Amino acid sequence: MRTQVAIIGAGPAGLLLGQLLQVAGIETVILERRSADYVLGRIRAGVLEQGTVDLIARAGCDARLRQEGLPHAGVNLCFDGKRHRIDLAALTAGKEVVVYGQTEVTRDLMEARAAADARTVYEATGVHLEGFERARPVVHFRKGGIAQTLECDFIAGCDGFYGVSRQSVPEGALETFERVYPFGWLGLLADVPPANEELIYVNHEDGFALCSMRSPTRSRYYLQCDADEKVENWSDQRFWDELRRRLDPEAAAALVTGPALEKSIAPLRSFVAEPLRFGRLFLAGDVAHIVPPTGAKGLNLAASDVHYLSEALIEYYGEGSSAGIDAYSARALARVWKAERFSWWMTSLLHRFPENGRFGHRIQLAELEYLVSSDAAAASLAENYVGLPF
Ligand code: FAD
Ligand code: PHB
Repeated sequence: MRTQVAIIGAGPAGLLLGQLLQVAGIETVILERRSADYVLGRIRAGVLEQGTVDLIARAGCDARLRQEGLPHAGVNLCFDGKRHRIDLAALTAGKEVVVYGQTEVTRDLMEARAAADARTVYEATGVHLEGFERARPVVHFRKGGIAQTLECDFIAGCDGFYGVSRQSVPEGALETFERVYPFGWLGLLADVPPANEELIYVNHEDGFALCSMRSPTRSRYYLQCDADEKVENWSDQRFWDELRRRLDPEAAAALVTGPALEKSIAPLRSFVAEPLRFGRLFLAGDVAHIVPPTGAKGLNLAASDVHYLSEALIEYYGEGSSAGIDAYSARALARVWKAERFSWWMTSLLHRFPENGRFGHRIQLAELEYLVSSDAAAASLAENYVGLPF
């Protein structure tokens, strides 16, 4: 097999890159370790920045997003039992975010790819990258037990944090930066109407909570939990009781409970690997950087990497110029680090850090008071939350 760009991973990064290149007439093959159904079954992010929406539109995959996505012009902070609204639109000259699940983004991209007859190999195992430091990289893999090779001009490693691409880079060529937080998020998805029309981020002395949603009839809630907590310890009833206890009285009264469709625990981590390019191999998305979900940036950062990388590859094939490719890593990382900072800051502001004690909690409350009483402070949150420009 031969193609122009071999893409490893059919998550949002790989699928979006594939579609943007497809629209520009560049051929790709995607190799994905899991089945399509497995990829679609993973419940993850829910908040899209305007830049991500625009990129999905450029890929021609925004029809359902425009119909079903929920534009949000504000977001709420709850602390000391009281809720305060941050008017994102007013503080950012009209910018908003759109609530639309990652599973839906993935489904739309997969369908467009199938309609374009672009090749995706699901359940491709043993993916092994070779020769990316030379002109003709090769990807080896197995499908249905049969060994195959894919020759290409470039490899785009879009295979997530545990993927093979980053691990294929020679030792010593990568520099990594990491912070692991001493807690996780316990998430619950249920077919009940959301407790509030907009998201509520809660700082409670017993831990963070978040009210989010997927649609007017489907809610997504999170609770801060210990890093080694087990989902089995949390019955639906225990989850709902604890969530209600952490909310302001109005949200607690509006909370509608129901059976969980999904419940899972995600660890919280900040991570960056530099650089994002090694000869003809590029890294994009979670394979190269992780943010704690508090700022809702993971999926949006994958999209901004793909924006820079797709532009660079389109420039290479269209004009024969390597300028974009040469600049990719530095351009993408500059934005990555700003989102890393924002996500770390939101996490620090809203979670319970036992080691910081009562003093730490009072400092958080002082900062939250400042945020909701100063337009200058709120504007900084708003500008980052809706997404910094590409
Ligand atoms: P991924 O979505 O991880 O996709 C990578 C793909 O590569 C996967 O399909 C994987 O199966 C495939 N792959 C891996 N290894 C190989 C291999 N060797 N060969 C072939 N294919 C391979 N962000 C938020 O903003 N809010 C959230 O609430 C949120 N929750 C999350 C919960 C979890 C459990 C996780 C893991 C992430 C969460 N994120 C969240 C982050 C967000 O989902 C990611 O940032 C986003 O999925 C990144 O997209 P990606 O395409 O880079 O990586
Ligand atoms: C979600 O809806 O899953 C979600 C929303 C906002 C976040 C994180 C997750 O910050």
